[in-house]
Amino acid sequence: MDYANNILETIGNTPLVKLNKLTAELPCLVLAKYETFNPGNSVKDRMALQMVEDAEAAGLLKPGGTIIEGTSGNTGMGLALAAVVKGYRMICVISDKQSKEKVDILKAVGSEVYVCPTDVAPDDSQSYYSTARRLSEEIPNSWYVNQYDNPSNTKAHYLSTGPEIWEQTDGKVTHFVVGVGTGGTVSGVGGYLKEQNPNIKVWGIDTYGSVFKKYHETGIFDENEIYPYVTEGIGEDILPKNVNFDIIDGFTKVTDKDAAVYTQRLAKEEGMFLGNSAGAAIKGLLQLKEHFTKDDVVVVLFHDHGSRYVGKMFNDDWMREKGYIE
Ligand SMILES: Cc1ncc(COP(=O)(O)O)c(C=O)c1O
Repeated sequence: MDYANNILETIGNTPLVKLNKLTAELPCLVLAKYETFNPGNSVKDRMALQMVEDAEAAGLLKPGGTIIEGTSGNTGMGLALAAVVKGYRMICVISDKQSKEKVDILKAVGSEVYVCPTDVAPDDSQSYYSTARRLSEEIPNSWYVNQYDNPSNTKAHYLSTGPEIWEQTDGKVTHFVVGVGTGGTVSGVGGYLKEQNPNIKVWGIDTYGSVFKKYHETGIFDENEIYPYVTEGIGEDILPKNVNFDIIDGFTKVTDKDAAVYTQRLAKEEGMFLGNSAGAAIKGLLQLKEHFTKDDVVVVLFHDHGSRYVGKMFNDDWMREKGYIE
C-alpha cells in the first residue's frame, strides 16, 4: 500500500507545468511551479509546517498550545492544517482587504479569525501585525509565528521548493521569477538555486504601493511609495527579515489591473485556475521579456488557487466596478 500517514505528509513535490499560450511571444521555455497541489492549495503549506516543527523542536510551541499568526490567508491555512493534525488551537489575524473566501476557508479548518483594518500603519495598535502580537502576549502558552521574520520560512523553501525546481529542470533552470511578500519563497528558492549555479537570475515581482523595488534599487525605504493596493499576497509596507535583497537581481512592478486581468487570462487561456499573485507573476515575467533568450529555462512560481478569488478577480461585476474590464 502507498499512503501518507496524515495530510501533512502530502506537502511538497508539486508539478512543473509548461506555459503555452500566454508566453507564446517569448523565445524561451517557461515552466510554472504549480503550488496549488499542496493540501492547503498554496505554497505556504511548506513554510507553515517547517515553522511549526522548528518551534516544537525549540520548545516555543508546547502541547496544548495556541498558534497565533497575522496572515493574508495562505500561511494561516497551512498552519491550521498543522494545528488540526498536531492538536493545537489556531488563531489567524487577517486584514480586511483580503477576500471573504480566505476568512471562511480558515474557519472551515478550525481556525479562529480576527479581521483588522488595512488602512492603518503597521505600528498602529489596530493593525494586524500589532493585534497578532498583542494576542500572543495575552494568551498563555501561545506562540506568535511571525512569518515575516521567522527564518524557518526561508529555510522551508531552501530545503524543499528550491531542490525540487533544480531536480525537475535537471539543473537547466536559468531564471526564477516569483512574487515577493514575506520573502520566504524568493530567498529560499533563489538562495538554493544560486548555490547550485551562481549564474541563475532571480527576479522578484512587486506591486505599486509597496516599498521593495525602490529599496532594492536605492537602499531607501521610501514611505511615499506606500499606499493601499488591490493585489493580494505580494508587496509590503515593511522590510521583512525574510527578504534577502542580495540574492534578488531585480524587481518589476505590476499594476493591480494587470494582475487581475492576467489572473483571468491564466484560467481562460492556460486552464490554470490560480490566485491573484499568479496573475501578477506571469504579467511581470512578460514585462521582463528582453532578459530572456532562446535557450533559457524560466521558472515562475504560482502561489495559490483561484477558488480564493471567486468574489473578486473571477467575478466580472467586481472586475467592472474596479474598471479592470469593460
Ligand atoms: C497568494 C500569495 N502570493 C504570494 C505570496 C508571497 O510569498 P512570500 O511570502 O514567500 O514572499 C504570498 C504570501 O503570503 C501569498 O499568499
